[in-house]
Amino acid sequence: MSAGLAGRRLLVSAGPTYEDLDPARFLGNRSSGKMGFAIAAVAAARGAQVVLVAGPVHLATPAGVQRIDVRSAAQMHAAVMQALPCDAYIGAAAVADFTPRAPSAQKIKKQPGQDVLVLELVKTRDILAEVAASAQRPRLVVGFAAETERVADYARAKLERKRLDLICANQVGQAGCGFESDDNALLVIDAAGARALGPAPKAELAGQLLDIVAERLA
Ligand code: C5P
Repeated sequence: MSAGLAGRRLLVSAGPTYEDLDPARFLGNRSSGKMGFAIAAVAAARGAQVVLVAGPVHLATPAGVQRIDVRSAAQMHAAVMQALPCDAYIGAAAVADFTPRAPSAQKIKKQPGQDVLVLELVKTRDILAEVAASAQRPRLVVGFAAETERVADYARAKLERKRLDLICANQVGQAGCGFESDDNALLVIDAAGARALGPAPKAELAGQLLDIVAERLA
């Protein structure tokens, strides 16, 4: 039997961010937003009040969810901070770690004979870490970690560094899972240990993750 979330306020981030280089080009990533949207949909169906901050994705807004569309990491940071307080923050977005230092107002032109273009990037603000350190810290802060190797080790290090309550690690490149896929497999890690969820459809995994969230909030 799944635990209820009635009356809980959940804030979810989903999708990629796009960091503009010029009016025609950006740096993005392969996140589809499906995992975060599935979490928002299931949470709303279980009675939670859900705010979903979404990067650029091609997904319909789940029933009963308040959606805020953003493009860049800076916009996502502002939208998330403004949406606090909440009972739980679930950071499922693939936020850019770096953004162009000085986006060009005009389209960048290749110069005759130019073989190399050097882009200068600066670090973005870590939304998840800032939510966890905020004076309005939610009772539960949940992060995601996409890793290509040493999945559990790197995820646990992130859990501690960003002061999270839970981190959901998934291995990038596992067949049929992760980016753009309808299925996923997660290793849910907290201070006490780890639990493997899936491989399963993202909607089913969202339900299992929200069982854990509801238990923690109860
Ligand atoms: O450190 P890494 O980017 O791998 O951590 C992933 C987690 O941190 C995800 O939950 C992501 O939403 C969050 N994150 C963030 N802001 C950033 C970078 C990552 O909230 N600038």
